Amino acid sequence: MAEKRSFSNLKAGKEVPGGDIRTGRQLRGAVLKEALVRELEDFFGSDARRIAHAKKVMEFSEKMLKRERADYTIVIPAAILHDVGIKPAEEKYGSAGGQLQEKEGPAVARKILRKIGMKKDRIGEICRIIASHHSPGEVNTVNFRVLYDADWLVNFGGEFKGLRRTERERLINRIFLTETGRLIASVLYLKPVLKKRRV
Ligand SMILES: [Fe+2]
Repeated sequence: MAEKRSFSNLKAGKEVPGGDIRTGRQLRGAVLKEALVRELEDFFGSDARRIAHAKKVMEFSEKMLKRERADYTIVIPAAILHDVGIKPAEEKYGSAGGQLQEKEGPAVARKILRKIGMKKDRIGEICRIIASHHSPGEVNTVNFRVLYDADWLVNFGGEFKGLRRTERERLINRIFLTETGRLIASVLYLKPVLKKRRV
């Protein structure tokens, strides 16, 4: 019987990715991502909105990573797990406020990361990012900045609906921490509104 494909197996070199054109590193990244997305889906269960949000943050993080020279194995787990504190915060305090998420998130994330076989020092950095993902400045690393901007790329439209273009431009320059984040935000949120031509 074929051995179950897992991040730990790949890391330990037990799995030979025959026929796959991706490099070993890319494949390890993909397996890490798949394993964490599965854990995220198990954790949030029927809460499809939270799962969809985390996946979008993960996708933006992937788009930004290379350009910002950030570490995939830190940023992608942080992106997938950044909001896991919401569930225990709501259960314990009846609120999902930013600081409560930051307080409750790391313990949940640590448990999941240990389960998939992540290294201790990486778990530490990922959890530090999760513990301050609403508090820019506490962790001053490129890995933090990419996750922070990816979260804002998803949330910006909803938070600032109806604002004028000049206002949105000012907020983009103030909020985003990376060049790539500002660039993507400008493309997404400063598009001129095209008026339909009457025929
Ligand atoms: Fe988020």
